Formats: sequence, C-alpha cells, structure tokens
Amino acid sequence: MDGGRIVNLPGAIGGATMPVLASDAAILGIETSCDETAAAVVAGGQQVLSSVVSSQVDLHARYGGVVPEVAGRAHTERLVPVMSQALVESALEDSDIAAVAATAGPGLVGALLVGVSAAKALALVWDVPFVAVNHLEAHLHAAFLDEPSLELPVVVILVSGGHTMLVLMEDRLRYRVLGATLDDAAGEAFDKVARYMGLGYPGGPVIDRLSGQGDPDAIAFPRAMLHDGWNFSFAGLKTAVINHLRRHPDATTEDVAASFQEAVADVLVAKARRAAASHNARGLCLAGGVAANSRLREMTLDACTADGLAGYLPSRAMCTDNAAMVAAAAWWRLQADGPSPLTVGADPSLGLPET
Ligand code: KG4
Ligand code: ZN
Repeated sequence: MDGGRIVNLPGAIGGATMPVLASDAAILGIETSCDETAAAVVAGGQQVLSSVVSSQVDLHARYGGVVPEVAGRAHTERLVPVMSQALVESALEDSDIAAVAATAGPGLVGALLVGVSAAKALALVWDVPFVAVNHLEAHLHAAFLDEPSLELPVVVILVSGGHTMLVLMEDRLRYRVLGATLDDAAGEAFDKVARYMGLGYPGGPVIDRLSGQGDPDAIAFPRAMLHDGWNFSFAGLKTAVINHLRRHPDATTEDVAASFQEAVADVLVAKARRAAASHNARGLCLAGGVAANSRLREMTLDACTADGLAGYLPSRAMCTDNAAMVAAAAWWRLQADGPSPLTVGADPSLGLPET
C-alpha cells in the first residue's frame, strides 16, 4: 500500500510536529479495556482491512463477571498473537502501518496497560506516532464503519456493560453528553438480573434470547425517570425484578426476562427520541454491547420510522468491543490533535472529551 505513511515524521512521536496524514493511512488499533483482546487495521479511518477479537468470556463466566486480574493476564498472553493475526489478515507490511493506537481509558487499569504498553513499544520500534484513544469515543465511531454515509447530527444511545449515555454527536469529534446513568449501566443491569436468575454471564445475550419466548407486558416493571431529563437509573429496575422473583418464585423466566428487557429498551428509546426532537437530530444511532439487543434495535427502528429519523444500527461485531473502532477514532484524533506523547498512561476513569 502506497502513501499510507505519515510524512514529516521527525518529532511526531513526541507530539511536536502535526503529521500530514495520507487519506488512506493505515492504523493498527489495539483494544484491551475490558475482557476482549482485539487488534485491527483500518485504512483512512474507514476501510476495515482486518479485525480480530479474542473474547475472554469463557474465562470470566465461572466468576459471574469480569475479574480484573484474570483479564490483564489473559491480555498479556493473547495480545501478540491477536496483533499478528490482524497484521497478516490486513495483507499489509509492517512498514505500511502509519500509526499505532490503543484504548487508554476508561476501563480496567491492568487491562488497559497491556494494550497501551504494546502500542507504544510498536510505535517506537516502527518509528510512527502513538495515539491514545478514548474507549467511549471509539464506540461513537463504530457505526460509521458499517454506515459510511451516516448523516450527523445523531443522538447516540451508548449502552455497554460499564456505560449508559445519551450523546448528541454533531461532528466526528464534536459531541455533547446529554445524559448518563446515575447508577447501574444498562448492560450491568442485564448482567445482574441474569446472575440473580441463574442464567450465567454475560446476561444480556441470554435475556435477549429468552425474551423471544416471553410476554413483554406480563409484568409492569418501573420505568425510572422516564419523563425526567436525560439521565437514567437502572438500579431500581434491577431491585424490582429481584423483589418480583422473591414474591413469585414460580414466575415464568421468559416473561420476567421479556418484561425487564422491555422496561430497559422503553426508557432508552423514549429519551433518545425526545432528545432527537429537542436537538434537531437527523437520526438515532446505537453503540456499545447492549446495542446488540434485538428489542432495543426493533424499538429504535420503530421510533425512527414514526418520527421520520434515520436509524443507524451497527452490526453486532461493531456494537461490542473491537479494535476497528479504536483505529477509526485514532485516524480522526491524529489529524486533529497529532500524536499522543509516549508519557500518556492508562486512565481507568477517562471521560468522554466534550467540545
Ligand atoms: O461494549 P461491551 O462489549 O463491553 C463493555 O465495554 O462493557 O458490552 C458488554 C455488555 C454486557 O453487559 C452484555 O451483557 C451486554 O453488553 N450485551 C447485551 C447483549 N449482548 C451483549 N445486552 C442486551 N442484549 C444483548 N443482546
Ligand atoms: Zn465498550
């Protein structure tokens, strides 16, 4: 691949010189913020040349959740093979890689450090820029990899195991967090409810599957803060499900799952569509692991049809943690801000940079 490199490299690694990024510059992205070890090569911030994800879900399932120490150790074992595979599948030479990016936060610190250290080492060896990427910003860029013609502004429902946010995305690097969860993240609520019901980890996919055979109107679970601002609260809903199961031990699992899922999706979509109307957004977009939820996807599309909005529902591979979204976000960040200094560390509580 020609022209994929950065020109004017001297000083670029230290952040001194703003690089001129070729439009087809290939970036190696690395993602190790939680329990997925991932690497990908993306050209021009858009064309996914390879994307490899090694999920640790089986390692953590026996503990009912992600164990940080186990995650860090597994990243250390898996990252090099995963990166090698991503490079081989991209069909590029090492010398075609214009920059190396890694998620620097938010996430588990011991897990983040593995990816950040590997990315810095490769950037040094290859003499290319290192880019520290915000994991939440990466999730915001994921939909563009499936939908290059996505029209902004959109309201993004960013829902994962660790985060639940409503974001007004006005431009690739310009967005505003309208609201966020005040307690549990949506994915966390799915996982905790599933654990209580003995359904295993992660809970989201199981609840999603069981809900297909249940009645979503069987139990009227609460919709907290439905008409109240842009923030969310899911802790009360989780408690309501647990209380219901204690009072009705013979309740049908499928009905409980479907009614719980309906309550989560209801609140997320109701607020997002109201936010789209108030901010003149052109569409609604899903991001994060919970965006794989079939009822949330269905409700989002129904809302878009009813309100004349575009609905952007990324593929499951782009919803859950992956490194293609990291490489894509890095391409935009590198153009805007230049390389990250090699002194940047991992920041487990990094927030979404608002402009
Ligand atoms: O974005 P992600 O892969 O990792 C984090 O950054 O957290 O999201 C993982 C979360 C887990 O809580 C999992 O239960 C949830 O996404 N999830 C789902 C579904 N698939 C994954 N939740 C609801 N329905 C699904 N189909
Ligand atoms: Zn994530």
